[in-house]
Amino acid sequence: MSKDIVLSGIRATGNLHLGNYYGALSKFVKMQDDYDCLYFIADLHALTTNPDPDALHANVKNIVAEYLAAGIDPTKATIFVQSDVPEISEMYLLLNMHVGIGELMRTASFKDKARKALGLTAKADESDEQFEHEIIGAETNKRVNAGLLTYPTLMAVDILIQKAKYVPVGKDQLQHLELTRRFARRFNSFYGVDEFPEPESFDFGGKPVKVPGLDGSGKMGKSEGNCIYLVDEPKALTKKVMRAVTDEGPKEPNSPVSEPIANLFTLLELTSSPEIVKQYRDAYADCSIRYGDLKKQLAADILKVTTPIREHINEILADEEYIRRVLQQGAERARERAAKTLAEVRQIMGIRKF
Ligand code: TRP
Repeated sequence: MSKDIVLSGIRATGNLHLGNYYGALSKFVKMQDDYDCLYFIADLHALTTNPDPDALHANVKNIVAEYLAAGIDPTKATIFVQSDVPEISEMYLLLNMHVGIGELMRTASFKDKARKALGLTAKADESDEQFEHEIIGAETNKRVNAGLLTYPTLMAVDILIQKAKYVPVGKDQLQHLELTRRFARRFNSFYGVDEFPEPESFDFGGKPVKVPGLDGSGKMGKSEGNCIYLVDEPKALTKKVMRAVTDEGPKEPNSPVSEPIANLFTLLELTSSPEIVKQYRDAYADCSIRYGDLKKQLAADILKVTTPIREHINEILADEEYIRRVLQQGAERARERAAKTLAEVRQIMGIRKF
């Protein structure tokens, strides 16, 4: 029996942080033994926000190194760069013929990014019509690029071209996955074929991990500026943790825990031992806790997780030859199935040789 196909990708927009590590990378690693896994670096998706070309290239390299250092084994999983598979770009054009601009415009991530591009803030009472008006916006010289609009088409192609069954992604990507399923159904029914299986998100069981940031609220995110990066040097990392938002401390025994402190406990639970966590929870409950100690402990325990990874990342970054080999082999493997799917799709759509 061949293994089920798993595919996931990360946009090449910066270094990976602890949230990426617990939310994605560590899961990718766990899946590589039991599934036929493809993990890629979404550099074409990164282009939707017009990055500096040198920064884009450096980010692709960083993510490859981070994938490898986190434990993705290129002999088990296929690691590739999206743009190394030109079949994706061609199928993106073809699939777009079956995607509605309306459904793309209603996508949450598009609305978010389009608003940012136009320098607008979300208004609760804003109707779709108003929003669409702003985007077409004759009143502004800012523009929302078409690549941003068709981001979900490209993501659907990433998945469908490999005929992936499972797509491990976070909550923020579920709407894109739902669109992918819809596009797959639509294509199949329009042409009366059974070309694409409908991909599913992957449920790891247990409660989903939400890795909080250091700024007191919300989750860790690149754009929030509250991140601990896997490549952070010990000094800088410790400084960040020591500066994390706290509160005034518990005034009476068994006080409820405020969000900033709950976040520090969540990070401690992820990186430390149950005994240590209990020690600090008890100290909180009896009001003897000192947040400075908690943060020192947390910084030390985070470093225990990140130090071996950071060292490994730096080794890999210094070995371009190795990176080249991994990506070349990955591209070859990814292109095999992609080329086959694209040939089928062209045939189905009527693009045929004479
Ligand atoms: N959109 C995803 C993100 O921002 C990245 C991505 C692109 C992706 N193509 C994909 C994830 C295909 C899973 C499958 O995180």
